Amino acid sequence: MSFLNGATVGFDTADNKAVFIDQTLLPNEYKEISTDDYQEIFDAIKLLKVRGAPAIGVFTAIALAVLMNKSQSTIYDELFAELKEYCEKLILCRPTAVNLKWATEEMLRIAEKCNADNFKQNITNQAMKMIEYDIAICRKIGEYGAELLENCNSVLTHCNAGRLATVKYGTALSPVYVAKEQGHNIKVYADETRPLLQGARLTAFELCDAGIDTTVICDNMASFVMKNGLVDAVLVGCDRVALNGDTANKIGTSGVAILAKHYNIPFYVCMPFSTLDKNIKKGDDIVIEMRDGDEIGEMWYEKPMIPETAKTLNPAFDITDHSLITAFITEKGIITADEIKKYI
Ligand code: MRU
Repeated sequence: MSFLNGATVGFDTADNKAVFIDQTLLPNEYKEISTDDYQEIFDAIKLLKVRGAPAIGVFTAIALAVLMNKSQSTIYDELFAELKEYCEKLILCRPTAVNLKWATEEMLRIAEKCNADNFKQNITNQAMKMIEYDIAICRKIGEYGAELLENCNSVLTHCNAGRLATVKYGTALSPVYVAKEQGHNIKVYADETRPLLQGARLTAFELCDAGIDTTVICDNMASFVMKNGLVDAVLVGCDRVALNGDTANKIGTSGVAILAKHYNIPFYVCMPFSTLDKNIKKGDDIVIEMRDGDEIGEMWYEKPMIPETAKTLNPAFDITDHSLITAFITEKGIITADEIKKYI
């Protein structure tokens, strides 16, 4: 029996366990993992078993509650110090996705108002609230997006910003799901998304599972489908948005945005406000996560696919300039980059 029942991450409060789908096994194996072990939690985020900015944020909140519920301490200062230490360690796992930082800040904010008696319960309640909050805002993004795409037959998406990247619904794929509920079937072209293949493995998996017409293309085919009039809009998610609208998302996103501009195709970023970094003015200030080069030449192949002496460069994200973004689809409505500041 599935504990998650259609969600991507969950909190088993009866057993005090953080629950997640191991996304590194998809699409060939579906496996839910239940844990209260710090190292397993750390590895789950670091190794992308749980990934996608909103899912990372909510999972972090659940994990912090699980870890604190296990604490032996009954003294407030000790509990707070323990929580802070976990936050400082977890935040290092993925430096670009701001939702990780957001979740740790939210938990510390709640902890500051607690005492020793209500500490664990309040932290647990906050994690549960963040699960519900994520579901609600993704649904809203889907509703606004479905309205915007009323006359759209097909979209292109990059990476996975679907239900597997959030608790439910997703951000970039939520409009497609809501449109389907309303009887409007939008086709999706999914970029495979080198090097970790989130588009091929995860986006295609969840869209096919939902009965959506899905076509996987290699990343270098986006220009072909755009030139041939096969896509009406681009929908992507985001990992951190600066105040001017510059957007960090999966490596390759900015190239897709440049192509979309060239072919006059609207390029929408689906952004929950939890992914806006109010402390960052422009994209240049966003730290880009650099990952192991083995992901490029070895991970998916039986034998290494690049010569031993060749170097690799593996930035996990890039920055799409705000001038390339037609609009942001948010839980508060559809807004332009210039309007972001009005909403904070
Ligand atoms: O490295 P990942 O798989 O965590 O990267 C995910 C993305 O870049 C998503 O597009 C982004 O987090 C938005 S998820 C709603």
